[in-house]
Amino acid sequence: MRVLMAVLVFAACVRGQIRETNPFPLTDTVAMGKGKQLYSFYCVFCHGMDGISGRGAQLASSYRKHGSSDREMYRTIADGVPGTEMSGHFLEEDEIWKILLFVRQLEQSVGKSGQGCGAGAGDADRGSALFRGKAGCHACHGKTSRLGPDLTGVGATRSREHLRESILNPDKEISRRFRTAMVKTRAGESVRGLLMNEDEYTVHVMDTSERIRSFRRVDLIEVSMLKESLMPSYTGKITVNEMNDLLAYLCTTPGGSK
Ligand code: HEC
Ligand code: HEC
Repeated sequence: MRVLMAVLVFAACVRGQIRETNPFPLTDTVAMGKGKQLYSFYCVFCHGMDGISGRGAQLASSYRKHGSSDREMYRTIADGVPGTEMSGHFLEEDEIWKILLFVRQLEQSVGKSGQGCGAGAGDADRGSALFRGKAGCHACHGKTSRLGPDLTGVGATRSREHLRESILNPDKEISRRFRTAMVKTRAGESVRGLLMNEDEYTVHVMDTSERIRSFRRVDLIEVSMLKESLMPSYTGKITVNEMNDLLAYLCTTPGGSK
């Protein structure tokens, strides 16, 4: 017990030692160069070298869902964002500060007006009506729905192209949290939904009416993971103008789509 306490106190001290602010100034070209190098190794795959083109959050933006102070961003990079692809990074403290230095430079590259992906050619009010009405997006992305990800601030953290692709080709990239499963029971029932949890004996699926269904494995003849997203593709179902309206809505609504 005493050993455990000592370990906990030690861990708390190590955590507590993290500085409040970045010890390296933006003018430190050596630290910046190292930060860029580390970024191109650890982060580029999801965030792109420009901080825009990747499939992760858009870093060349002044909007931050998880806080924009040095300390908050340090924690995001070190610990990751639970439940998303953004995992923690086991790097030395100084290495993380140098990476953050480079991320700050990306932020500055968009200037003050660079928030979000911009209204573009569409009309945000028409987009909002479409989102809530005919297009049916709200059923899965609304405040109380759990069938799709929260789109709060999505326009500030995602590029326009990523949003367009997500609407036209949802199957292309499906985040792990929203994998679709198909379950077939011996009694002849088929249920499609989000895989919530599974273990040796049970499988839990949230069906498309948002009911959580638990199945015993012995009662099932098949559990398969589908390559398709639960989100339908809107290719051919919405016009070019409607797409522009939806993008204008997602890109300009502060705090997102809720
Ligand atoms: C495997 C993909 C992946 C890798 C690698 C990755 N990220 Fe992320 N990152 C993401 C995703 C996805 C999010 C959005 C999480 C969410 O939904 O809030 C994110 C979010 C962030 C955020 C928070 C943005 C905000 O709005 O608050 C920061 C900062 C960040 N990443 C920096 C980094 C840095 C720096 C690295 C390299 C050390 C890195 N990421 C590596 C996928 C990744
Ligand atoms: C049947 C439920 C459902 C409907 C209807 C639906 N979505 Fe989705 N949406 C999802 C799910 C699940 C995901 C996450 C898995 C994926 O990426 O395909 C998703 C992902 C997204 C993403 C990507 C988010 C990101 O951070 O990468 C966007 C953007 C999006 N949806 C917008 C829309 C819009 C706009 C509509 C209406 C035109 C819509 N969705 C209709 C379920 C739905």
